[in-house]
Amino acid sequence: MSAQRLLVDIHTHVYLPRYAAFLRSRTSVPRIFTRTSPESGKPEERLLILDDEPSGGRPIGAQYWDRDEKLKFMDRHAIDVSVVSSANPWLDFLPAQTAHTLAGELNHDLETYCSTGPSLQQNLKRLYGFGLLPLVPGATTESLVSTVEQIASLPHLKGIIMGTRGVGKGLDDEALDPVWAALEKAGLVVFLHPHYGVDKNAWGEKENGHVLPLALGFPFETTIATTRLILSGVLDRYPNLRVLLAHSGGALPQLSSRLASCIAHDPLVASRLKHDARYYLGKLYFDAVAYGSEELGFVSDAIGRAEKYANAGASAAVSSAKGTDGTEKRRAGAKRMLFGTDHPFFPPLSATEKWKSVVENLEAIDGVYGWDEAEKGAVRGGNALALFNLGA
Ligand code: URA
Ligand code: ZN
Repeated sequence: MSAQRLLVDIHTHVYLPRYAAFLRSRTSVPRIFTRTSPESGKPEERLLILDDEPSGGRPIGAQYWDRDEKLKFMDRHAIDVSVVSSANPWLDFLPAQTAHTLAGELNHDLETYCSTGPSLQQNLKRLYGFGLLPLVPGATTESLVSTVEQIASLPHLKGIIMGTRGVGKGLDDEALDPVWAALEKAGLVVFLHPHYGVDKNAWGEKENGHVLPLALGFPFETTIATTRLILSGVLDRYPNLRVLLAHSGGALPQLSSRLASCIAHDPLVASRLKHDARYYLGKLYFDAVAYGSEELGFVSDAIGRAEKYANAGASAAVSSAKGTDGTEKRRAGAKRMLFGTDHPFFPPLSATEKWKSVVENLEAIDGVYGWDEAEKGAVRGGNALALFNLGA
């Protein structure tokens, strides 16, 4: 099959068997526990990972750890290649030494998961991975950088997945500079993924299941973390760092002009960055896990206009951006968007051949106004092959 036609899933998770066993051994969140199913009366495992989530947690089963289940899911949805990442909360809750040791072991486990899996064609496996760093309070620079180097030495690991806390003070912490430098040097893609959401008081007192934390809390968390990354100048200091944002960057595309305006009007920050805030959207990568064509089209517009804001103060930029043809920007933005599923989260509530969460994301790509087949093919897989240098 032509490489341009491949379907590549870059947002797909696993709890490796070693990690799942660890969660089973725990008595506090995050944990996997067994209960008697209220429906069937039989024992069933449940996943409890979010603070303040309903006490029954969420269903969990073999699709979270069994590679054959991942491959069956891929086959069922015609996904050729998956770049698999550990699911949240990673190692965030562990003491530094435990996190370091477990990161090393899980990175090896994921390399084996990928390397001993099937191939699609010569030079192209069906499974690649994002490794884990021991990003916890108290982590030493040496521990973090040596784990970056370990991941870089594992041929099927093409990046790392990280949450938003860094080593306790978020991603705008200067203590992370050696980590960004090492990641940039190694050419590893940083997949930035939420876990914590926002202050639970925002959700009120009504019971709405997981809807508010997952639909809003997760993307707002990513929005804030990425904005702080931009404001701290990390993308200026490490211009070749490649950061991939979960859930299409949350609300960042929608809020990026407001962000630029707030920066331009704040004497403390106005001259801090090399570029207008909107420029940095064109330095980032965005998954296409947004479930709607209009949202994908909008995100690609916001990415595609970014170049106009290079080295520009806000007012100069606005005028130069005005004349740009709309679909041209939209097509340019599509180069930085990549198909994903979020598997095995969001399983269908009743048995269906294909998962609604997958079908909706594929239909969304297919329906974006102004994207031709070239852009759609790129978002489905071509961009991922290029970003992760797969099948070369
Ligand atoms: N819920 C999670 O906890 N993580 C995901 O990645 C998706 C949904
Ligand atoms: Zn996810």
